Amino acid sequence: MTERGPEIDPNRRLSGHPAEQPLAPIADKSVLKDYALFSMGLTSTTGPWGTSFAANLTPDDTGLGNWTEAQFIKAIREGKSKGMDGARPLLPPMPWVVYKNLSHEDLSSIFAYLQTIAPVKNAVPNPVPPSAL
Ligand code: HEM
Repeated sequence: MTERGPEIDPNRRLSGHPAEQPLAPIADKSVLKDYALFSMGLTSTTGPWGTSFAANLTPDDTGLGNWTEAQFIKAIREGKSKGMDGARPLLPPMPWVVYKNLSHEDLSSIFAYLQTIAPVKNAVPNPVPPSAL
């Protein structure tokens, strides 16, 4: 984040919330009644769902490297973590509801593109439930 707003970090592009970044303590939880809080890099968000972390979409083992296209399409169409039946629902602000009606061709193209970008090793943390904030 700069004085002009967010700038892309080419070394971390689409690799999600940096695993080593410490989470800011929330000094006054009463703000969560009216506000969602974003980390400065816009990769973690705290709201009524707890804290969620943007996923690593690069083709590393810690990202989408081992995913099938079918998993990717299920994740986006049904909002399922890892694109697996029975998995937990994807949390906000991942706007899968906005993307779920994309055509098969578009989703297939997005997945194919994501498999071509540079792999970045980054194991994004698990979400923090509201009770643990
Ligand atoms: C075309 C654009 C996007 C694609 C292809 C995409 C893809 C994905 C996928 C496949 C996951 C699931 C990862 C997993 O289950 O391990 C995910 C999670 C996530 N995405 Fe997106 N995403 C997109 C846009 C966005 C945007 C615009 C935001 C935020 C404003 C966002 C925020 C998140 C967050 C916070 C998660 C983690 C949710 C959780 O842990 O439950 N994504 N994304």
